Amino acid sequence: MTHPVEREEWKALAEHHESVRATTLRELFEKDDQRHEVFQLEAAGIFLDYSKNHLTDTTLDLLLSLARASSVSEKMQRMFRGDIVNPTEHRPALHTALRNRSDQPVMVDGRDVMPDIREVLARMRVFSDQVREGQWKGFTGKPITDVVNIGIGGSDLGPLMAVEALAPFAHPRLTLHFVSNVDASHLVSALKKVDPETTLFIVASKTFTTQETLSNAHSARRWFLESAAVETDVSKHFVALSTNADAVSDFGIDTDNMFGFWDWVGGRYSLWSAIGLSLVLSIGMDRFEQMLQGAHDMDMHARDAAPEQNMPVILALLTVWYNNFWDAHSHLIAPYDQYLHRFPAYLQQLTMESNGKSVHIDGSPVSLATGPVVWGEPGTNGQHAYFQLLHQGTHLIPTDFIMAIESLNPLGIHQDLLMANCFAQSEALMMGKNRDELHAEMRAAGASEEQINRLSGHRTFAGNRPSNTLLVQQMTPHALGALIALYEHKVFVEAAIWDINPFDQWGVELGKQLAKSIHAEIDQAKTVSGHDASTNGLINRALKFKNLLA
Ligand code: F6P
Repeated sequence: MTHPVEREEWKALAEHHESVRATTLRELFEKDDQRHEVFQLEAAGIFLDYSKNHLTDTTLDLLLSLARASSVSEKMQRMFRGDIVNPTEHRPALHTALRNRSDQPVMVDGRDVMPDIREVLARMRVFSDQVREGQWKGFTGKPITDVVNIGIGGSDLGPLMAVEALAPFAHPRLTLHFVSNVDASHLVSALKKVDPETTLFIVASKTFTTQETLSNAHSARRWFLESAAVETDVSKHFVALSTNADAVSDFGIDTDNMFGFWDWVGGRYSLWSAIGLSLVLSIGMDRFEQMLQGAHDMDMHARDAAPEQNMPVILALLTVWYNNFWDAHSHLIAPYDQYLHRFPAYLQQLTMESNGKSVHIDGSPVSLATGPVVWGEPGTNGQHAYFQLLHQGTHLIPTDFIMAIESLNPLGIHQDLLMANCFAQSEALMMGKNRDELHAEMRAAGASEEQINRLSGHRTFAGNRPSNTLLVQQMTPHALGALIALYEHKVFVEAAIWDINPFDQWGVELGKQLAKSIHAEIDQAKTVSGHDASTNGLINRALKFKNLLA
C-alpha cells in the first residue's frame, strides 16, 4: 500500500508549501480581488466563503490531485453503497441510509435496510405524537411534562446539541433534560427539577452496556420506584433506544418500549436514528424529517458533486493543508449563534473520536499528523475570552465561522451586531494591523511618539490567520441537518486522505477496562499495589480520604 506521505501529490504539496508560505493573505487579496468569487461554494442551503485561506489556484489543484490519488470519491461511493468501510469492526457505516429520503434501496448483506429504517421512524412518529399531544399518560394519569435523556457520547451530544440548536421549535409543555455524566450531581440536579408522575426517561445507549448510562438509568429507576410508583408503572415512564434488545429487557424495559437501530450506525453518527427521539419529542416528527432532508441534500451533494465543487471535500482538503503542511493542529469552530452552543462539543466528538488515530486502515503506523484538536464556543463570547491568542498568540489556528443571517429571535439591532462581529473577526484575523496603520491611527488619536514606540509591538496584529465562513439563511431544522452532514463528510474525506478508519474508536477501551478494575479495588477498600506507583498512591490516598484505610 502507498502511504499518503509517499504519494507524489503529497511531496508536491510539501514543495509548494515552501514556495507559498511567505505569501500573506493580504497579498493574495491584493493580487486578486476576485478571490471571494472564485473560492466560494453553495450547497444544500449553505454558503461557504473559503477565500480567506492560504490558497492559490495551484494549491487547490495540488490538493485536488491528492484527493484523486487518495480515491476520495470512490471511498465515498463505497460508504454510501453499504460496503464494509469499518474493517476493524467488519461493518458498513450507513448513517446516510437513516436520512435517505429517496426511494432508492440501501443494501446490507443482500437486504434492503430502508423498510426497517422507515418502520422505526413511523413508530417514533406515533410515540412522539402521543407524548406531545398529551395522550401518553404517566402512572397517575397526567400528561408528560419532562423528558430526561440518559446517555453519553453520541447517545447524548447529538440530541442535546440539536435540541438546543432548535430550541425555538420546542414543544411548549415539554422540558428536555440530558444526563450523561456518571457524576451523580448530573442526575441529582435533573431529578430535582422533575416530577416522577410526569417524567419520561429515555435510556439511550447503542450497546446498552455503557457504565455511565446504566448507572444513571438504574438510579433513575430507583428514584422513580421510590415515589409510590410500582414496577408495572415503569413501562409508562421508561423507553430505551438501543441495538441490544436483550440488555434492554434485562434492565427491565419492555422491548415494546424500545426503538431500535443497527450496528452499522456509529455512536457519533446516530442522531439520525432512534437516538434522535428526545429531539423528536421536542420539535416534532415533521421538523425532524426536515432535518433528515437537509442532511440528505448534503449527502447527495457530497456523493455527486465534482471534487472542486464539493463542499466537504474542499473543507477537508483545507484541514489537511493546515494540519499536515502548516503544522496547525488545532481547529476552532466559532458559531455566531447562541443556540449552537453545544455544536463545537458535538463536532469535537465527531472529529476527534473519528480521526484521532495513529495507524492506517491496514494497521501500519502513520507517519503524518491525523485529526486536529477541535474546540470552540459561540461568538461573540469567545472574542472576550480566547480570541486574544488567535490574534496575537504564536499558534496558527484555522477557524470556521458559522452564521445564520436571520435570527430566530429578531430583536432590534442584535442580529446585525452579531453578524458585524462575525465578519469583523475573520477580517481582523486575516488583515491584522501593521505598524504603519497602527502608527497612523495612534497619531490621529493624539498619541505621543514615545507612546507609539513603546506600544507599537503590543498593538500590531500580524494577521494572516485563515478562516472559512459558513452562512445559512436561518438555523432551521433543514439547515442544521445540512450543516451536521457537511462536517460528517468532511471528517470522512480527511480520513480517506490520511488512510485511516474514521468509524472505530478502540482508543476509548483501555480507560473503560481500567476504570472497571479500579472500581472493584475501591470497593474492596484494601491497600493496592498492582498499578504504577502514581496510580497506587492516588487510589490509596482516596481510600484514606474516605476513612477506609488507616
Ligand atoms: O466510549 C465511546 C462510545 O462508545 C462512543 O463512541 C459512544 O457514542 C458512547 O461511547 C456511548 O455508547 P453507547 O451508546 O453504546 O452507550
